[in-house]
Amino acid sequence: MKKVITYGTFDLFHKGHYNILKRAKELGDYLIVGVTGDNYDRERGKLSVQDSLATRIENVRETGFADLIIVEEYLGQKIQDIINYDVDILVVGSDWKGKFDHLSKYCEVKYLERTKNISSTQI
Ligand code: CTP
Repeated sequence: MKKVITYGTFDLFHKGHYNILKRAKELGDYLIVGVTGDNYDRERGKLSVQDSLATRIENVRETGFADLIIVEEYLGQKIQDIINYDVDILVVGSDWKGKFDHLSKYCEVKYLERTKNISSTQI
């Protein structure tokens, strides 16, 4: 079974989020989605998040693409998740191109093109 993982804040859930989850799911059989915890977002300087963690998780759940939803709570968690869940592919948006290449020791890293002209910050 091919396992895929992807991460995000998924604030003010929009079409770009839907598209990347759909494409991530299509790359394998089982999709894990890591939603950033409120503290983790604050720590990394993302202060404009509007939706609660519960709402952001619910919006991801409603797409029906995620087989498992986890919370991303600290820097360095990705590597643990990849090992613990025996992940085959990490999917990341092209805004992060090159930033996760160090994880290719543990799984395939795929950068997918972002959906044009939409972002939570913009909304
Ligand atoms: N994403 C995408 N296309 C967009 C917006 C986001 O493919 N137009 C992807 C991101 O690359 C990431 C995932 O969706 O892999 C979650 O992104 P997130 O950072 O939560 O969303 P943004 O809308 O980019 O939020 P912000 O504007 O706060 O950075």
